[in-house]
Amino acid sequence: MIRRGMQGDLLSRPDVVEQIRQALDYPQLDIATAVASGELVAAATPPPGFTTLVQLSPDTIVAIARSLRYRHFYYREDVAAIDAYERRGGRSFPEILAILRANTYANAFSDAKIAGSYLGKAYGYDMLARAYMGQVIAMRRDMTAHFHHFFVQHILRESLTRDIDCVFDLGSGKGDILAELAASAGRPDVQFIGGELAEHGRACLDRFAGMLGMRNLRSAPFDMRAPDFSVLAGFKNVLLISHYALVYLNPFRESFWRAAFATTPAVRATLLEPVSFSVPELTNRPLFKLRQARDFGQAENFIEVLRNLQGSGELRITEIVPDISGLSALSSLSLVRFEKTPP
Ligand SMILES: C[S@@+](CC[C@H](N)C(=O)[O-])C[C@H]1O[C@@H](n2cnc3c(N)ncnc32)[C@H](O)[C@@H]1O
Repeated sequence: MIRRGMQGDLLSRPDVVEQIRQALDYPQLDIATAVASGELVAAATPPPGFTTLVQLSPDTIVAIARSLRYRHFYYREDVAAIDAYERRGGRSFPEILAILRANTYANAFSDAKIAGSYLGKAYGYDMLARAYMGQVIAMRRDMTAHFHHFFVQHILRESLTRDIDCVFDLGSGKGDILAELAASAGRPDVQFIGGELAEHGRACLDRFAGMLGMRNLRSAPFDMRAPDFSVLAGFKNVLLISHYALVYLNPFRESFWRAAFATTPAVRATLLEPVSFSVPELTNRPLFKLRQARDFGQAENFIEVLRNLQGSGELRITEIVPDISGLSALSSLSLVRFEKTPP
């Protein structure tokens, strides 16, 4: 994501913004939207405790923008990284997920025998004191990003049970996560709908649907600030999913979920949002800090809202795994699953 409030505040410089617009070939790019859309990373000041962060020049930011646009990865190195992982006796996805889940409210990452908070190196990588996907598999950073997407798909497929007839992705962005799920699920009986505010995000998803030849995959205009769930009317069992999107409704509102519940009889949700700082049971330091949420203007009360609704018997939280995975340790997402309580 583009990070505001960093040293030098590169993104407030019109020349940098202009270069990013040109690199993306997107003259209308609005930086506030880009901040919310998590497309670019501009890390200028290492947060306390992090030892290796690179100060990015404007040129580098533009280069990142360009490479992200084309999703350019160095496949040969990726294959080598996977081979190296497997040679070390790499764990399967379910095994890695089990480790991350077991460490939900836990203490030190005992495998690596690390004391303190952000300490230590293993395989030449910085290690965090808690299990985090990237370090459980000890991969290069861009490989971590690849693996994160595998995890996301694995987690979503766990929730796509036989009874689900509609998946609605809240703030679906470009829609690639939903498109991948739809393409791999083998579920022509399910409608996959991406709800998104950004017109170009919706256009991307609809293009993916065309490329895949899938008629049960499409976008729908959706504004979290005035949520209209009418597109879900008529479905029997809806799975709501999100990936770093709901926190942009700040503050979060109970009425958002109530609007969804009013439209469909049965709702389950599998949400991946940066909210570990607000999980009360997490005794260790969250990887996603309250300070980050404030810097980015993201909701601080996302979990609180769900707990309130659970308190009034409107839903049941079935799983919370703080910091289960993310594109990097700086954008760590927590898994939150809930189901609407039947009336
Ligand atoms: C960090 S991006 C994540 C996109 C997508 N879920 C993904 O992971 O690729 C956040 C998304 O939330 C969308 N968004 C922000 N505010 C919104 C609103 N009020 N209503 C609907 N979507 C919104 C943005 O346009 C953006 O696509």
